[in-house]
Amino acid sequence: MSLREDSKVGKLRVLDGEKVRLRPVEDEDIPKLMEWENDADIVRWAGKKFQTVEDAREWHLRPTLQHRTFAIELLDGRLIGEIEVLNITWRTRTAEIRVFIGEKDLWDRGLGEDAVSTLVNAFFRATALQEIFLRVDQDNGRARRCYQKVGFRPEGRVTCRWEDGSRRTLVLMKLRKAN
Ligand SMILES: CC(C)(COP(=O)(O)OP(=O)(O)OC[C@H]1O[C@@H](n2cnc3c(N)ncnc32)[C@H](O)[C@@H]1OP(=O)(O)O)[C@@H](O)C(=O)NCCC(=O)NCCS
Repeated sequence: MSLREDSKVGKLRVLDGEKVRLRPVEDEDIPKLMEWENDADIVRWAGKKFQTVEDAREWHLRPTLQHRTFAIELLDGRLIGEIEVLNITWRTRTAEIRVFIGEKDLWDRGLGEDAVSTLVNAFFRATALQEIFLRVDQDNGRARRCYQKVGFRPEGRVTCRWEDGSRRTLVLMKLRKAN
């Protein structure tokens, strides 16, 4: 199954939502993505992933069998954030997602909801994935509400030590493909 499914994922390139479009990340997007990934308000909730630009290039520009990343742009082509599918596991037909909208003045306008629902619907429609999950800080009310609007439901909690030494409680949320 895995080879056939991998090729289906490879065909998912440009995904049109109602408010945003998801497309492959390009080299010229990397500086803006790095700027956002170092922004304290984003790092606070999404964590810091890359130490160097090369790390970011490797992750965003070279999809693997386990992960794909997409730029989020407005319908006029303005880059506003990033969304990714990772930990793709065909054996269990599960995958995880991560997302951020880097343009903070655009938060709370339904763009995150549209990006997440566009991505999960496309993957459920085109591949054998049955369940998509994510991890979100319990205190991140905005993100939890965004995921809830798409249909994700909390399944459990885990407490862990964050990069800055603080203790955080993460909520595991899941969405199953509708039959
Ligand atoms: C999380 C994120 C992707 C959501 O995108 P978005 O476009 O702001 O989300 P939406 O507008 O679709 O939904 C946000 C909802 O949260 C609500 N909201 C805002 N602040 C809230 C709070 N403190 N508590 C509860 N709900 C809140 C909004 O009113 C909106 O709900 P509504 O449509 O019912 O009014 C984006 O805000 C972001 O990138 N945040 C910083 C990084 C981050 O947290 N990433 C996720 C890590 S798991």
